[in-house]
Amino acid sequence: MDRRKFLSWVGTGALATSLPTLLAACSSSYETSKESTDSSTENIVTSDSPIASSPKSEISDTPDADGFYSVGTLAAVATGGAISSKKFASASGSLIVIQDPADSDGVVALDARCTHQGCSVEWEDGSFVCPCHGSAFSVDGSVKEGPAEEPLAVFETKIEGETIFVKPA
Ligand code: FES
Repeated sequence: MDRRKFLSWVGTGALATSLPTLLAACSSSYETSKESTDSSTENIVTSDSPIASSPKSEISDTPDADGFYSVGTLAAVATGGAISSKKFASASGSLIVIQDPADSDGVVALDARCTHQGCSVEWEDGSFVCPCHGSAFSVDGSVKEGPAEEPLAVFETKIEGETIFVKPA
């Protein structure tokens, strides 16, 4: 075997041997990337409580006869947690639900889009806080601190058993 044939044979063998590993690595990388992209728009729960679990399958795609969507359980908002979604009832877009600080049997649901420039507010230390420019809103949606000037929209809610339902505006 001359030198050129030998090098060609070794190169083909090395490629054939490493191909499955390369494909697996690319596939794994793709899956991870896809998951991170998807998670940016999925429904999430933030909570200090270990009993909170992912409500991904709990937010219904269709309303009941009265126009309410099931969005999660009371357990998901217990002890300071919040249910939030950027895909809620597509027409309304963004949702945040917390346990009512004045009534532990109730919940409060608002449109999470900050009225300043539309970032999603988060529930922090008794206020809905916008991470973009620092606006803060009360539980009833009213502005506590600007630059936002308009209140957050409040959604109607109902509770059946352990399930929370929200009606978009
Ligand atoms: Fe919320 Fe600017 S978008 S403060």
